[in-house]
Amino acid sequence: MSQLDQIVSQAQAAFEAASDAPSLENAKAQFLGKAGLLTEQLKGLAALPPEEKKTLGAAVNQAKQAIEALLNARRQALADAQLAKRLSAEAIDITMPGRGAGLGSVHPVMQSWQRIEEIFRSIGFDVADGPEIETDWFNFTSLNNPLNHPARSMQDTFYLEERDETGLPLLLRTHTSPMQVRYAKANPPPIKVIAPGRTYRVDSDATHSPMFHQVEGLWIAEDVSFADLKGVYHDFLKQFFEDDALDIRFRPSFFPFTEPSAEVDMRFASGPLKGRWLEISGAGQVHPDVVRNFGLDPERFVGFAFGSGLERLTMLRYGIGDLRLFFDNDLRFLRQFA
Ligand code: DAH
Repeated sequence: MSQLDQIVSQAQAAFEAASDAPSLENAKAQFLGKAGLLTEQLKGLAALPPEEKKTLGAAVNQAKQAIEALLNARRQALADAQLAKRLSAEAIDITMPGRGAGLGSVHPVMQSWQRIEEIFRSIGFDVADGPEIETDWFNFTSLNNPLNHPARSMQDTFYLEERDETGLPLLLRTHTSPMQVRYAKANPPPIKVIAPGRTYRVDSDATHSPMFHQVEGLWIAEDVSFADLKGVYHDFLKQFFEDDALDIRFRPSFFPFTEPSAEVDMRFASGPLKGRWLEISGAGQVHPDVVRNFGLDPERFVGFAFGSGLERLTMLRYGIGDLRLFFDNDLRFLRQFA
């Protein structure tokens, strides 16, 4: 092997051994740099006679080209390897199944809430919202509840440590009825409103939850009668349950804030519950003392109120047997209402 060939294969070995760009450029300097092996050869040419200079010069040039070609090939190979490494490090696995978009759906009790608002809005009722933390006066006293009423006991009502300005403890409202007074004090008659919302009682079993929902209804004007209550509530139930042949009846009952008071029962004309009387709501003519607490003259302003449980309405609409299903958050249950 000629000396030049030796230099070329030495260069090839050195380039191969360089594992990154900086060491490759160092290796290059050993051969093509100012003091490189090939450069030395070129310098040696000067001393030769013209004939030899020509042939050897051509050979040195060839060797130089060969080394440059090897160098470029190695540069490219290192760059390719570097790119491949980066691509694999940054790769994302596009074959992995996606997580899907969990869209969610409206809870069945909330669907009832929305339905009730729609139905009552369509017959001119306003929809009002109020605080879940109430004062004793709005929750009990203004609604004619006597001071010794069992509903006011610690066994029935969640009390807070904070007190109102009269010194009585605040509480979680036990019904939506305080909204009657709140709304009537803030809005002049005629008053025509529903107030759906969360309510709380110390109670928990298959038919009671410590948190539940009610919708309060109130219609106060100069000429609203018990007949209007019957008409409005019957119509509401027919629309809510989509059963035009549904029956209702009113049973005498007692609530401190209504006189007379009634328990409303309903009976489906078809479906699995057909023919059975089912309790659905409390209702009555608003008591004169309560109308007075509205800030109105009970001799002039009369009307009715009702309070219905949203869970109860929803259970009857869908044939659900256990109230706790609403609060278990079991997707197998909830998806049926999506
Ligand atoms: N507030 C009553 C309860 O929670 C329900 C009720 C009964 C509301 C009669 C009314 C009514 O407005 O007139 O048991």
